[in-house]
Amino acid sequence: MVKTVPIAIARQFDERSQVSLFLGDRLGLLRSIPKASTRLVVTSPPYNIGKRYEKRLQFEDYLKQQEKTLSESARILAQDGSLCWQTGNHIAQDGEIFPLDVYIYRICKELGLKLRNRIVWCFEHGLHCKNRLSGRYETILWFTKSDKYVFNLDAIRVPQKYPGKKYFKGPKVGQYSCNPLGKNPGDVWIIPNVKHNHIEKTVHPCQFPIELIERLVLALTNPGDLIVDPYVGVGSAACAALVHKRRAAGSDLSAEYLKIAADRIEMVAKGVLPRRPLGKEVYVPGPNDKIAQRPAELGLFSGRRRIVLEGQLFA
Ligand SMILES: C[S@@+](CC[C@H](N)C(=O)[O-])C[C@H]1O[C@@H](n2cnc3c(N)ncnc32)[C@H](O)[C@@H]1O
Repeated sequence: MVKTVPIAIARQFDERSQVSLFLGDRLGLLRSIPKASTRLVVTSPPYNIGKRYEKRLQFEDYLKQQEKTLSESARILAQDGSLCWQTGNHIAQDGEIFPLDVYIYRICKELGLKLRNRIVWCFEHGLHCKNRLSGRYETILWFTKSDKYVFNLDAIRVPQKYPGKKYFKGPKVGQYSCNPLGKNPGDVWIIPNVKHNHIEKTVHPCQFPIELIERLVLALTNPGDLIVDPYVGVGSAACAALVHKRRAAGSDLSAEYLKIAADRIEMVAKGVLPRRPLGKEVYVPGPNDKIAQRPAELGLFSGRRRIVLEGQLFA
């Protein structure tokens, strides 16, 4: 039987604690964390689109709020630390869209942070729009505080498409040309979003898939490091941190979400948290999958074929 150690969750930020979950505004948590003490701040803020956990503000006021969160987050970052802001679009009431990362980029640049990647997170499922193309990606802006930063590429390598490929000329002719540890995963990540049939789904309407954050945790931090999520929701980033033996701190205005976060963290400690493993292939229905077959009564499909990207089907 696997022996598990119960986990103590601090309710205020506590440097010695493995996990701190603060009920209240994100500035309350961030201001209690010492300067330069965090290797990674990773979050997905509210998008100001009227979700049940946010109050719709004038867009300019929303950006001022984000500026405060980003400025405090930059303050707590270690010199070799990273800040990852995951966003989609703010959608105005008339349907105009505002790509949040464009605005966040400007704020972070003003704060002296340096962009290392704009990661595109692609997923297949979501709302079907009638007046524009359905949104099937969001972005993660990855910034660092300085030019010397933690980046453990080997920890996140993925299998090559052609691992048997060899040099065909030059001094290495006949040798395998690929890195035996795998290839760089690139900046387009195809990871299912957490919808109703996802194994990690809770009552939260917009939770992170844990595997999305795991990749950032593995690449941008080392064991024992502190990872902070100021809009922690049901604790997906904290779970990703703990799974990989890092420490976590997060805040949220909702006691309901924090209770679920605490329960999930307990499950990580016991090794029983249901989660989609990092690196698991996206499911592609086979030819015998009944639900994927077009019923005869619908007639022949008259539209264009679907697009295949890196072996995944995109509708
Ligand atoms: C996009 S969700 C983040 C979900 C999270 N990534 C997860 O996996 O559960 C944004 C969260 O921010 C919280 N929130 C909104 N305003 C806040 C504030 N001022 N301070 C702290 N949390 C806030 C909401 O309750 C919501 O859970």
